[in-house]
Amino acid sequence: MSDLVFPEGFLWGAATAAHQVEGDNTNSDWWAWERRPGTPCREPSGTACDHYGRFPEDIALLADLGLNTYRFSVEWARVEPSDGTFDPAAIDHYRRVVETARSHGLVPMVTLNHFTLPAWLADRGGWLAADAPRLFERYCRQVVGALGDAVDWYCTVNEPGVVAFGGYLGALGFPPGTRDVGSWRTAIGGLVEAHRRARAAVKELRPSARAGATHSMQEWEASAGGRPVIDYLRRMNEDAFLEASAEDDFIGVQTYTRVRLDVPAIAAPLVRAALAVPRIEALAVPWIVGRETRRAPAAVASDGVRATQMGYEFRPEAIAWTVARVARMYPGKDIVVTEHGVATADDTERVEFIAGGLASLHRLLGEGVPLRGYVHWSLLDNFEWARGYEMTFGLIGVDRATQRRTVRPSARMLGRVAATGRLAFPPKPAADA
Ligand code: FCB
Repeated sequence: MSDLVFPEGFLWGAATAAHQVEGDNTNSDWWAWERRPGTPCREPSGTACDHYGRFPEDIALLADLGLNTYRFSVEWARVEPSDGTFDPAAIDHYRRVVETARSHGLVPMVTLNHFTLPAWLADRGGWLAADAPRLFERYCRQVVGALGDAVDWYCTVNEPGVVAFGGYLGALGFPPGTRDVGSWRTAIGGLVEAHRRARAAVKELRPSARAGATHSMQEWEASAGGRPVIDYLRRMNEDAFLEASAEDDFIGVQTYTRVRLDVPAIAAPLVRAALAVPRIEALAVPWIVGRETRRAPAAVASDGVRATQMGYEFRPEAIAWTVARVARMYPGKDIVVTEHGVATADDTERVEFIAGGLASLHRLLGEGVPLRGYVHWSLLDNFEWARGYEMTFGLIGVDRATQRRTVRPSARMLGRVAATGRLAFPPKPAADA
């Protein structure tokens, strides 16, 4: 047993996203979606964690832990509440968030879009609207211009693959809830272009800032028969976006689990052929997605597999699999783990998850992979989209009745690793973590 040592200057952080923590994001597509009958949303976001008001306290907690980076998102629906009208008070709010982070010595890492859209754009079709990428660029210019030289790290679009798959193919119960392959492909195109335009805007206005998309990626594992399905999903959900990141300054990698697919080998040629025929693809893919999303969440991880609250396989080291894939795809390009975390009611599991993930990443650093940071999801227990508040991802617990914050042992453990650059491995029991 010896300490794993991480490089000097490594970014150690925790992340949030505006809609999930701020509260009362009333001008957004999600606000309306959470209230619309027939959507799969468990509950509305409401006041969330009141982070809009309590950000100074939350940022102070993050800094006190020993972390050096705060990743958060700017809410487009607040900054541009109606088409072409920018709210100076909202922009000023985010300037204060950035200043607060910096006053604690933290690196602010700003996400320009984390899932939500202004309601006025959603009314026009969201990412299906032909001018959505141009409108996104216009908003990004306002934000980047206003934050000026106070921000060095920009994440353009968060998990565009999840936005497209979750909302336009209806896979995760996200808005707008279309369920056809045509809409899915259109949304993918819009999101790719939005990312490209945002990156170009950041580089033009602030050339020394680092800009990149943050990608949802899975560790994939398939039997011979499952391979064509996995190849298909990986192409549509990951590669379409990773390819658009060739010019990015860094690749943000976000991985929560491993996805396994067991299909008899004999079915492989059939599946491959079916997915290559547009008319069959158009029928088969929404059908498969519909069937999968109706299954109980806990059934995602198959029998005998240790599962998280989300129903995902507990698989901390999946993050090294995806980071290694990006490193092979883009040798030498900087990589940042911009999300990695676990939904659990048992914080000792979170300690184990963080330690397991970091140990797997440490091996890659030893192989020369240019990994620049690790940002944990999430700083706070928060609104987990259609799954509501039951999923507890926080390093810090939040009692929503009182808005009281409770710093968990996992937060102290990660903070200690950050402050010392060392991970004792195997980790100490949570009691003294
Ligand atoms: C990611 C999202 C983030 C959060 C985590 C659990 O897909 O980026 O907002 O929901 O999953």
